Amino acid sequence: MDYLRIQGPSRLSGTIDIEGAKNAALPALAASLLTEEPLDLLRLPNVRDIATMRKLLSHLGVDSDECEDGVRLMPAGVSQVDDAPYELVKTMRASVLVLGPLLARLGHARVSLPGGCAIGVRPIDQHLAGLEALGASVLLEHGYVTVTARKLQGARFRFSLPTVTGTENLLMAACLARGTTVLENCAREPEIRDLADLLSKMGARIRGAGGNRIEIEGVDRLGSARHTVLADRIETGTYLLAGALTQGDVTVQGVEPADLASLLEKLGECGCHVDASESEIRVAPGGVLRARDVVTAPHPGFPTDLQAQYVALMTQADGSSTICETVFENRFQHVPELRRMGADIEVDGSFARVHGRSALSAARVMATDLRASASLVLAALVAQGETTIERIYHLDRGYARMEKKLQTLGARVERVSASS
Ligand code: EPZ
Repeated sequence: MDYLRIQGPSRLSGTIDIEGAKNAALPALAASLLTEEPLDLLRLPNVRDIATMRKLLSHLGVDSDECEDGVRLMPAGVSQVDDAPYELVKTMRASVLVLGPLLARLGHARVSLPGGCAIGVRPIDQHLAGLEALGASVLLEHGYVTVTARKLQGARFRFSLPTVTGTENLLMAACLARGTTVLENCAREPEIRDLADLLSKMGARIRGAGGNRIEIEGVDRLGSARHTVLADRIETGTYLLAGALTQGDVTVQGVEPADLASLLEKLGECGCHVDASESEIRVAPGGVLRARDVVTAPHPGFPTDLQAQYVALMTQADGSSTICETVFENRFQHVPELRRMGADIEVDGSFARVHGRSALSAARVMATDLRASASLVLAALVAQGETTIERIYHLDRGYARMEKKLQTLGARVERVSASS
């Protein structure tokens, strides 16, 4: 299993480009199930979750080939019988995104229940309640969910809480329903707006995506499209936080600053110098790094996917800070490993109390989930000595060429391929 070797401390400086967003690419890939015509998706990030989704789609009859700077999906062969098997779904919860489109296209879908993961139980009750509202019958048995509906009917449905993939599943299913669907209390993440842009190019009639109320007028069929997925705001935030943590000067290109307003505002409160133009963001030292509290929240609040990386930043801030994780119930897995590096953090339920100015020392640490592993990389950049981070397959799920990008910024990091 590969591991990373990082020499600290270092000060990052330079400019990097941002990949397409994993969390925009995954629903975009699933949307190919809604049509029989080819779909060209550009700027798909070269990360493990994308490969997993392409493997799942291939299993369902969607062939895909690399084209000039993306992937061409050919969904003509989607068949009735296949399901989304446990061995694929257990490696990636986002497999649940095939449920809505398959149901809308074929009138039937059988998907292994994703089960929990390191950060929480992560139920899909809202996905299923929404599909039932559109007229589907839902059967849960043997660890699978089977949904059937001869023809989905437009309806009004209110989510009990904002769910990103729940909103995406229902948005896709409603495109081919008979009549109009109104979804309320929707998640407002930019990736949902990006999915709606793609669906509209395919012929869907959608109003309000990106807001908490989305109206979809069902159509008989969707056609081909060519779409460049949104830049990854979480990858962007991760590198900006790395720049702030190392008191460096980092510029990130290719991202919409408005999609990261909550982070940029927080970095400013912490005393960082932040410059944002229409497609690039620069963070540079602005004097003392101040400790500031954060509460994670659905967009446009502070993203839960940047919480672990922010905790790493607060270990070096002047003062103490409280980080409250409101989205997932178990998302402080990075804390025990940070403590082994010398961080002074207490966790109490959904709160982490970070006491700053901890002198971090290098250690042998282990990644547990995607964003927790990013947090360990950031801490290793300022720790004294050589840190090794194991199980970096977690990192590879959502970050393309991380060690190359960090090397571009001056970090002393290498990926070691261990045969074991
Ligand atoms: C998406 O997950 C992202 N994944 C996650 O990114 C991200 O952390 C999360 O949204 C929140 O922003 C993708 O887009 C592929 P939710 P999702 O449904 O859709 C509860 C990463 O690191 N809930 O918005 O699964 C749920 O338990 C990943 O890139 C229900 O109770 O998250 C959670 O507490 C991690 N019932 C809250 O809602 C449901 O039916 C938000 O979850 C659905 C969700």
